[in-house]
Parts: sequence; structure tokens; C-alpha cells
Amino acid sequence: MKPTARPSNPCFSSGPCAKRPGWSVSALEGALVGRSHRSKDGRARIQEVLDRSRAILGVPDDYRIGIVPASDTGAMEMALWSLLGPRGVDVLAWESFGQGWVTDITKQLRLPDVRVFSADYGDICDLSQVDCDRDVVFAWNGTTSGVRVPNVDWISDDREGLAICDATSAVFAMNVPIGKLDAVTYSWQKVLGGEGQHGVLILSPRAVERLESYKPAWPLPKIFRMTQGGKLSEGIFKADTINTPSMLCMEDALDGLKWAEEIGGLQELARRTEANLAAVAGWVARTPWVDFLAAEPAVRSCTSICLKIVDPWFVALPAEESAKAAKQVASLLESERVAFDIAPYRDAPPGLRLWGGATVQLADLETLFPWLDWAYGEVKQGRD
Ligand SMILES: Cc1ncc(COP(=O)(O)O)c(C=O)c1O
Repeated sequence: MKPTARPSNPCFSSGPCAKRPGWSVSALEGALVGRSHRSKDGRARIQEVLDRSRAILGVPDDYRIGIVPASDTGAMEMALWSLLGPRGVDVLAWESFGQGWVTDITKQLRLPDVRVFSADYGDICDLSQVDCDRDVVFAWNGTTSGVRVPNVDWISDDREGLAICDATSAVFAMNVPIGKLDAVTYSWQKVLGGEGQHGVLILSPRAVERLESYKPAWPLPKIFRMTQGGKLSEGIFKADTINTPSMLCMEDALDGLKWAEEIGGLQELARRTEANLAAVAGWVARTPWVDFLAAEPAVRSCTSICLKIVDPWFVALPAEESAKAAKQVASLLESERVAFDIAPYRDAPPGLRLWGGATVQLADLETLFPWLDWAYGEVKQGRD
């Protein structure tokens, strides 16, 4: 039967993600629009974003945190182009964004000593093979495969290499121990429901040491440059952004951070996210046509929850047809305005992807489950 109740917020996209509950454009009323980001007030606003982010994420005092151009991609590429070169690199990939970093390292930077560890969608690499005396590059959470690293035990404390982590769909949702990593990146458009195009880059003292002692052999565009005359450009990490940020997005980021503080900080963000995953797991357990793409619970993401369709009817369809059928489920729900953007990433196996980050309310997921069953039934019936 077609359900009647609809989620209060149908946004289940994996980026940009749902705004916090209760968000409206009035949250931006105090934005410093029309003002210089280099003014005293502008810099104070940027610094406030950095300070609140540092506090919520538990960034160690001796780590730098700065806002950089071009979203998480910009922050990651800035780190890769600036830090890699002097050591061999182990790069890990379990979905398309990780594969993107592999391409950067092997085909663009063309580093000579690279070991690539990749896993299929839904799986993770054998982390015990990683050599932490080499530089290590990985995404904490594979947004397109629904797989996350189970812990950070495989990164040794006395490593010689740098651990460079794309943590964009993990921070503010999972306990990412930043003090165990050397370069951590994310963008605002994920767990706190902020806007795209601004990246955040966090650097350990060892990463700074690398920046100050090593000059890459390749040219660096201005938006990647973090040093001047062999010294770190400290300003980047003290509200002097490299180029002009959007003060509207800044205000929105601030709104998300204040909300995170109000509800209880990282612990509560993580609790809500895990509760969302648990709810999905409950529905999956009682639903014969669906299963998690990640078979192993320890590596299952609580933010980008990727599901596959295991109904024998669906599995027997030719690949093109099954992809079409899965897309139909997502489109039907979109046309009913109960779930937007839940089709999987274009390169991922056919199925569904639900964002479970803290801005998504548990009650909305619970309301969505009967709709998923209904939409799947409709698509199956229509194609029989
Ligand atoms: C793991 C991962 N890395 C990188 C990106 C790219 O992020 P952005 O579009 O903010 O640059 C995404 C976006 O979804 C992602 O999920």
C-alpha cells in the first residue's frame, strides 16, 4: 500500500547534504555581505569558524586549520601537490573519490614509487599492508561505496611518512582522531549541511615541517601555495584566506557549527549518525529485497549508507536493466517528493544511497522505509 506520511525533510543526498533541522535562509541574516573578508570584522568571522571547528573536531593545539579554495577536492589536491614527492606513496582506494586521488598521484604527479591498494565497491583494502614509513593517502569514508576505515590502529605513531586523509564524509559524524593524521581535508557541504566550494585543510606539525623542508619539482598555482620563502604562510591558518571566500557560506558554516555545539558536539553528532545507520540496518534486516553494499559491518559507513538490491528478480536482470530499475525506484520517490537524490553515484553498482549524517532526522528515515518498499514494489510490478 502507498504510505501516506511523508518525511518532514525529503533531503537524503550525500552532498550537498540536508541542512540542519529548522534551517531557513534567515540563518544567514547576520552574514557580513558586502564587506571585505580582510576587514577586522571579516577576519573575526572567519576565525570564529576556524575556532569552533577546531573545538568540535578536537584538533590538537599544535595543528594548523585553514579554509582553502575549491572544496574538499581543492584541499586534497593542495595537500597532494604540496606534500608528496620526497617519499614513496601508498595510496588506498575503495571507491571513485579514492580512485581520483590515485589518478592524481600516478597520472598527474607521475610519482615514481607508488603502491596502489584498491578494493571493489563495498570492500576495503588490507590495511595491514600499508607501510607508514611511506606517505599514505586515503579517504576515511568512501562516499560512493558506503565503506569506512574501521579504526586508525594501522597508522603507526612513530611513522616516518605522512598520513594524508580525505575525511570529508566522516568529520562531524565519526570519531576521526585528527592527532593520528598529518593532513586532513573536508568541505562544508557534507555532515553539517553547509555549502560547497570551501575546503578545510588541517596540518600536523610534521606536515608543516615537510612543507618547509621540501620544494616540489613541479610548479604550484597560487591557490595551492602554502609557503613563502621556504616558510609556512601562517596567515592561511589565521583567517587570511588565499583568495576571497563567500561570507554568505561562512555564515552558513557558522550556523552549522553553532547547531552542532547546541545539540552536544561531536559525541551527539556521532550518536545521531550511528542511530540513523542502526535504523537502516533494522529495516534492511526485515526487508528481503535489499542489503548493504558493504558486507562487513565493521567497515559500513554511517553517513553514506549504500544499499544493493538482492531480490532474485532484480539480480537476474541484465546489467543495463537493473541499473534502470534502481534508478526508477529513486525517481519515483523523487516525484512523490519523499526522497531526493538517493540514486547511487554514477560509477557505483545499482542500488540506493541514503545519507545518514546528523542533519538527517531519524524520524524522517523511519518514515521513508515504507516508501522504499512501496516504490520497489511498484517498479517490480511495472516491469514484470
Ligand atoms: C570522499 C570524497 N572525497 C571528495 C569529494 C569531493 O568533494 P567536493 O565536491 O567538496 O570537492 C567527495 C564529495 O562527495 C567525497 O565524498
